[in-house]
Amino acid sequence: MKHHTTTSAAFVLVSCIATLCIAACTSSAKPSTMQSPLDAGGNDFGNPSADSSLPSFDASGHFLTFADRPCPPGSTLSYQSFGAAFFANHCELCHASSMTGLARNGAPVGLFFDNQAEIQALRQKIWERAGDENHLMPPVGSVAMSERVQLGEWLACGAK
Ligand code: HEC
Repeated sequence: MKHHTTTSAAFVLVSCIATLCIAACTSSAKPSTMQSPLDAGGNDFGNPSADSSLPSFDASGHFLTFADRPCPPGSTLSYQSFGAAFFANHCELCHASSMTGLARNGAPVGLFFDNQAEIQALRQKIWERAGDENHLMPPVGSVAMSERVQLGEWLACGAK
């Protein structure tokens, strides 16, 4: 009788372990969080709030849309003092009008950032890809956070 009880207990224990194993295997087989193709390189693309290695945004705030991004009073950034160099250093490798064919690395034809008028017209799109906490562009290399914040400010102030 004692022997029978021990056997049942052992069976229950083995069944529990088997169930736990199945549960563990099933959950580990689930896909991890979805990644955009641009995240595949794995550095500073995407939402920085998910990446603790990036600085926080207390100083500038975390702006959800371009319309939320204020132009700070007294901003002194201009195309001459900031914009021209920023786009030359970080964007024109692919987005310059002088780049054609494969040299554009896939950057859309007709999307030129070596021209202030075009930048002004595309302020919102540019901000959504590269301004403040948006790190989708450039797709390779990195841009200092301080420069992204300056870009956000300059765009919000009209890219003048
Ligand atoms: C290494 C090449 C490369 C560099 C450098 C680069 N881009 Fe791009 N960009 C692309 C490619 C390729 C696309 C098209 C694919 C896509 O939309 O992601 C693109 C698309 C874009 C778009 C989307 C246009 C649309 O019609 O929606 C914007 C805006 C943009 N880039 C801004 C920038 C800015 C701002 C910089 C500089 C901070 C930059 N890019 C630097 C390659 C580049």
